[in-house]
Amino acid sequence: MSRTLLMIGGGTQAVPGIRMAKDRGLFVVVSDRNPDAPGFADADARLIADTYDVAETTAKAVEFHSQTRPLNGVMCMATDVPHTVAGVAEALNLPTIGRTTADLAINKLAMKQKFHLDGVAIPWFGEIESADHLKTVLAERGSPLVIKPIDSRGSRGVLRLTERVDVDWAFATAHAPSPTGRVMAESYLPGPQVSTESVVVDGVAYTPGFSDRNYELLDTYAPHMIENGGDLPSFLDTKARQDILTVVQHAADSLGIKNGIVKGDMVYSDGKAYVIELAARLSGGFFCTHEIPLNTGVSTVAAAIKLAMGDAIEVQELTPKFNRPVVQRYLFPKPGRVTSVNGLADAAAMDGVEFVDCWVQPGDQIIPPVHSGCTAAVVIAVGDDHAQALTRANRALSLIRVETR
Ligand SMILES: Nc1ncnc2c1ncn2[C@@H]1O[C@H](COP(=O)(O)OP(=O)(O)OP(=O)(O)O)[C@@H](O)[C@H]1O
Ligand SMILES: [Mg+2]
Repeated sequence: MSRTLLMIGGGTQAVPGIRMAKDRGLFVVVSDRNPDAPGFADADARLIADTYDVAETTAKAVEFHSQTRPLNGVMCMATDVPHTVAGVAEALNLPTIGRTTADLAINKLAMKQKFHLDGVAIPWFGEIESADHLKTVLAERGSPLVIKPIDSRGSRGVLRLTERVDVDWAFATAHAPSPTGRVMAESYLPGPQVSTESVVVDGVAYTPGFSDRNYELLDTYAPHMIENGGDLPSFLDTKARQDILTVVQHAADSLGIKNGIVKGDMVYSDGKAYVIELAARLSGGFFCTHEIPLNTGVSTVAAAIKLAMGDAIEVQELTPKFNRPVVQRYLFPKPGRVTSVNGLADAAAMDGVEFVDCWVQPGDQIIPPVHSGCTAAVVIAVGDDHAQALTRANRALSLIRVETR
């Protein structure tokens, strides 16, 4: 009997991983709350369970394990549920980073407290109890500060506070997306932002994923912090990159990750590397599925499947085979109701355009960008150099027409 992997979360961005696991001969079980989850189409078996509900998913997984077919591994991708993955893995004694580490990784405040304790480079931070408390902190520390929910995702409620921002509104906006109603502030670190994705093997972080994050829309959509894609390889020099990798390793050690995937939100500010957060899972936003493999020929998804199954990973698998320029950009249509979507095929047919996707259709409502889910489409292009990849990505994006009224 083939070995069995449980993929927690069957969203569109998990589909490449589900297919890869099946291609490697695994029997793949997918769990999701939504009976129409796209990942179910490729699954060998399905469990209907809320990915965020550790108890429900664990109960369903244990039942499947004992009554239908033993599970040999569990993972997630493009969904922020390392705690559910760890809960299931601990219940079934499967390879895992452990629940304690996973719980730190989904709580931005607890994570920063641990980083602080261990001397990992982070910005100043503190919990914020109320709008009045925020006013006091602003008076003491000055702006800009970043305020955010301690346990949300996709930059929901993450705001850069300058003098112009209404403090009562900001507190309420950061508070609303937090399931536990808790908010924190940090000093805003100016400087280049980087996404990293590492595979930690026996305590050593190998980092094939290293992308500059494009924040050219930071002022346009302020105070919301909206990222518009990424550029690989990074323009940072060797020293800056090495400094960032050192902080990634320090942060992974601090969270106690011996074998696992870590996705870093990193900033290089004033000649020093900092971590904003370290997610203990594969990235979303097509970074692990498209950008890293196109840039390096390395698949962190393949590595994550191996880690989940307890299979050995050779260091060569994580070593970039090439360094091809890749540019990813998102489409932010004019807010309103979508009346038509055109040009996707033309964009996809362009030379060097490796990936095009659009997730809105006529009738959908486009809201002004307030978090990273407010995009409508993405393009990923490669080139002989960065300029060519960028030109191709922008040209492809201009061919996609999402009309709104
Ligand atoms: N203190 C800070 N200084 C500079 N930039 C920051 C700071 N805090 C957050 N950011 C930027 O805003 C992004 C979103 O913040 P954060 O990662 O805390 O929230 P999130 O909901 O996990 O969002 P995402 O899914 O985009 O990472 C960060 O990845 C980083 O680019
Ligand atoms: Mg983040």
